[in-house]
Amino acid sequence: MNRQQKILGEGLGFDDVMLVPLRSTIRSRYSGEIETTAPIAKDAPPIAVPIISANMDTVTGWRMATLMANLGGFGVIHRFMSIEEQVNEVRKVKERMRVLEDRPPVIRCDATIQDARRLLTVRERGYVILYEGEAFNGEFVGIATPRDFDAGRPDMPLSEVMTPRNRIHTVPQGTSLEDAVRVMRQHRVEKMPMVGADGKLIGVYTTKDYKLYNQYPLASLDNRGRLLVGAAIGVQRGEIERALALTEAEVDVLVLDIAHGGLDYTQEILHRLKIQEGVKTPIVAGNVASTDGAKYVRDSGADGVKVGVGPGYVCETRDVAGVGIPQITAIMNAAEAFAHDSDPLPIIGDGGIRKPGDVAKAIAAGAHTVMVGSLFAGTEESPGEPVDQDGMLKKMVRGMASSTAFEKRLALGSTTTSADEYVPEGRTTFTPYKGSASKVLKKLRGGLLSGMSYSDAHTIAEMHEKAQFIIVRTPAMPEQRRPLQS
Ligand code: XMP
Repeated sequence: MNRQQKILGEGLGFDDVMLVPLRSTIRSRYSGEIETTAPIAKDAPPIAVPIISANMDTVTGWRMATLMANLGGFGVIHRFMSIEEQVNEVRKVKERMRVLEDRPPVIRCDATIQDARRLLTVRERGYVILYEGEAFNGEFVGIATPRDFDAGRPDMPLSEVMTPRNRIHTVPQGTSLEDAVRVMRQHRVEKMPMVGADGKLIGVYTTKDYKLYNQYPLASLDNRGRLLVGAAIGVQRGEIERALALTEAEVDVLVLDIAHGGLDYTQEILHRLKIQEGVKTPIVAGNVASTDGAKYVRDSGADGVKVGVGPGYVCETRDVAGVGIPQITAIMNAAEAFAHDSDPLPIIGDGGIRKPGDVAKAIAAGAHTVMVGSLFAGTEESPGEPVDQDGMLKKMVRGMASSTAFEKRLALGSTTTSADEYVPEGRTTFTPYKGSASKVLKKLRGGLLSGMSYSDAHTIAEMHEKAQFIIVRTPAMPEQRRPLQS
C-alpha cells in the first residue's frame, strides 16, 4: 500500500464548515414555504421534523419517544432493558393515540368490573366494549367506562353497569373523525363506535383522540393514526427474539445498534431477520462512516443507514480505538455511496449535534434525518430523575459503551464479555436539567428551517442539491469535546 492509499484525505466536522448564504426565494422560515418531511427508512412512514432521539438509556424511553412523535420527530427506544420491558415501552407509545381505534379493548359482559379495570391498565383506554358468547366477532352488547365501574362493586358483572347497545349512538362505516365528533357533541358523549352495515363494530372514535390529533398537527403517525416509534436491537444472544417480539408489538422501525456496522454481524442479522424470519418491519443498520461502509450496509439489505463513528458527546471511540471520521465527511461519504442509486437508502446522521446549525449542516451534507443523543439527555422526558449537584439540577448522560452502561448489561445478562476484559469507549457525565425536550426540539427545528431558507431549499431534497459549504480554517475542536448548547 502506498502513501496515497494509506491516507484517504481530510475529514470535516461540524465546526470545520459553514453553509454559504445563497440567493433565496424563501421570504421567511416561518412562512410555511419550507417542507422538512423526510424518510427514516424505506417503507416506513416519513416524518415531518427530521430529528430522531437516540437509542441511549439516558435519552429515549417511551416518554421521549411519545413526545418526539407527537411533535413530528421520532424516537428509538433503547435496548438496555429486558425484552418484555422494551416491548411494553413500544406498546405504550403505540397505545397513545389513534384516529380510529380498530382494536378496542373488548371483554365479555359477564366479566367483572375488576376484570375490566385490569384490562384497562394494560390497554390504557377509557372504555371497554362488551360482548356475549365465546369470542368477540364484532357484535357488541354494550360499552362501559371507568365512571360506570365506579357505580358498582368490583365483583359485579359489567352487564349491570354498562350502557346497553340500544342506548349507544353509533356512526356508519366511512364517517370521518370530524363528522363523528359533531355527532358526539350533539349527544354529549365522548366515545363513538363505528359500525358496518351488518351492525358489527369497525372501530371507536373518541374525543380524546380528536383533541390529541388537533393538538399535534405534525405528529408522526402510522397508517392507523398511531404514533410512530422505533426500537433498538443488538447482536448478542437473544436479540433475534427481541426483534421478533418488537415486530409483534408493531414497532415501526428496528434499529440495529452496532458501533461498527462494517462487521459481519450486520449482514448475518439482516439475513436472519429478513430472509429466514420474514420480518417486514424496516430495519436501519449502522453505524458506518465511509463510502464502503455505507455500501456494505445497503448491500446487506438494510432499509436505512445510520452514519457516525465517534462524533457523540459521550463517545470515546476516537480516543480509545483511534477510529473515526469527522461527521460532515462521514455523511458526505454515505451520500456519495448512494449517489447513483435509483432509490437511495435514507441516511440518518447520528451524533455530534451540539447546536441547531449542526442539523442544517448534517442535512446539507446529505443526511435525511439526524439522530440526537446528549442534547435530549438532560430533559424532562429522558429516563431518570434529575439530581442536585452543587445547587444545580442535572441529569445523567452516558455512552452506551461506558463502564456504567456495561455494568447494566452484565446485570441483564446481555453481554458475553467479562468485566475484567472490558475497556469502555464511552463516558458517563451529567448535563444541566433543561425542562421539556420540546424546547430543545423547537430550537433544532428552527435552526434547520433557517439554514434551509439561507440555502433556498424548500425541501430536504433541495437542501441536498443546493446547499454549499465553505471550509473555515479555525482549529477544529473534536466533536465530542464541544460544549452542549441548547
Ligand atoms: P450525541 O452527540 O448526540 O450522539 O450525544 C449520540 C450518539 O452517540 C453514539 N454513542 C456512542 N458512541 N461510545 C460511542 O462510541 C458510546 O458509548 C456511545 N454511546 C452513544 C450513538 O451513536 C448515539 O446515537
